[in-house]
Amino acid sequence: MKRQHVFALVLVIAPIVVVSIATAAQDRFTLKSANGIAFAEFKGYDAWQVIAPSVPDNAGGCGSAKDGCIKAIVGNSTMIKAYAAGGPSSAQPVPDGAAMAKIEWSSKHVPGPPYAVTAPGTLAAISFMLKDAKRFPDTDGWGYVTFNYNAATDTFKPSTDNPAVMRTSCHACHIRGAKAHDFVYTNFAKR
Ligand code: HEC
Repeated sequence: MKRQHVFALVLVIAPIVVVSIATAAQDRFTLKSANGIAFAEFKGYDAWQVIAPSVPDNAGGCGSAKDGCIKAIVGNSTMIKAYAAGGPSSAQPVPDGAAMAKIEWSSKHVPGPPYAVTAPGTLAAISFMLKDAKRFPDTDGWGYVTFNYNAATDTFKPSTDNPAVMRTSCHACHIRGAKAHDFVYTNFAKR
């Protein structure tokens, strides 16, 4: 191979090697939030059943996606059973061990198909709720955590290092609108 061809090859391959080293670097399941909730507690969330999708009316309802977002709210089997039993409600609170994930993507306009659609773009963040009455007594038994996703580095990071946020922000707002439903906003969408 000619010398300048080898040089060109190195130029092409080097960034690929650097990127793959960077992407291989993070194991999301080693992350832990300031309030002590580990990403690993939600292992398998990517295969949980869909409770419902949601699209906020304006970007204020999105975490970091400024041009709008699409969310999928999914739940583990304990959570899905709680919905099947008619919950969640104050009379029928969700049992310990139930968990939900809210996966948020930036919204992406796809003009190609016969009718244009808005589809998930880049992953933005994943928020979790986990029910454990003994562990989270200050927030009515719910543990909250959000991991923000950085697409450029393909890494996740807890959204805050302030352990109080779970109570003062997350739960405070879930009290505001969802107290009567055991602090869960999303209804199970019939299918
Ligand atoms: C300003 C109010 C507000 C704050 C603050 C807030 N949420 Fe929510 N959350 C909502 C609303 C409204 C929904 C339902 C609509 C949607 O986003 O799909 C929701 C839905 C959720 C869901 C899906 C289950 C459900 O209750 O419907 C999870 C999980 C969740 N939030 C986690 C969090 C976490 C973690 C935090 C804090 C880091 C947080 N939320 C802070 C308003 C809030």
